[in-house]
Amino acid sequence: MNKSKSDKVKDFYENWDVSKYPDYLKVLMEFEENLIFKIISKDDFFKSLSKSPKNIKVLDCGCGFGSFYDLTKDFDTIYLDFSLNLLRKFKIEKNKICASIENLPFKDGIFDLILCINVLEHVDFKKAVFEVKRVLKTNGRAYFIVVNSDSIINDEIFVEWKIPHNLISKSDFNDIESEDFKIDYIKSFYFLHPFFKVFPKPILKGIINLFFKNDEKISSFLKFKGQFLICRMVKK
Ligand SMILES: C[S@@+](CC[C@H](N)C(=O)[O-])C[C@H]1O[C@@H](n2cnc3c(N)ncnc32)[C@H](O)[C@@H]1O
Repeated sequence: MNKSKSDKVKDFYENWDVSKYPDYLKVLMEFEENLIFKIISKDDFFKSLSKSPKNIKVLDCGCGFGSFYDLTKDFDTIYLDFSLNLLRKFKIEKNKICASIENLPFKDGIFDLILCINVLEHVDFKKAVFEVKRVLKTNGRAYFIVVNSDSIINDEIFVEWKIPHNLISKSDFNDIESEDFKIDYIKSFYFLHPFFKVFPKPILKGIINLFFKNDEKISSFLKFKGQFLICRMVKK
């Protein structure tokens, strides 16, 4: 029997073991993570929530094994993923839920902030975004991060992973924008040509350091051509 796309994605993540990846790929993944940390933690909306974190309800939707725990640990955060394997690898005891983003097990209007990082590529885009919007409070924000289909960098990270996925563009977000769910801002980030992969790890790290420091400048020059997009949406 042919497996559905969702079953294939689930199988993949149930067996996902990043420790087996080659060094250069781990370094590239760390580069993306560090950029996301920097962009979100410096963002005005995020900073405004950080003033009284215990009262802020956050959902890390598709949290994996908790790469972004340090960003959300001071809030009242729920960590959701549909892979039990990854939730088990995520070394916290409480507030973990195994469920699908396409059918979130929450009432409407609960969360102040939702992070959805590299998840929409694997799911029904519209259905998932609608669910995120449904569980957000009025004036709540969601940060969506996706692999950008308009990137000038012709090397997408998921190629190595052999997993069903769709790249997503700015126009996909424009298409789902509505009166009650508006794009607050959208930009691309991560500019690193795959050519650099050939360098040994210490040199690659040095190169990445330069790109890390200059990502914002490159982004304002190359606009929506980076390998990833971050889109912040507000529920009205
Ligand atoms: C690329 S990983 C990203 C994990 C984490 N957000 C991060 O950035 O480190 C994609 C995650 O999406 C999860 N995922 C895929 N489809 C999902 C679905 N329908 N519902 C919930 N999570 C899903 C996977 O299990 C996996 O943890």
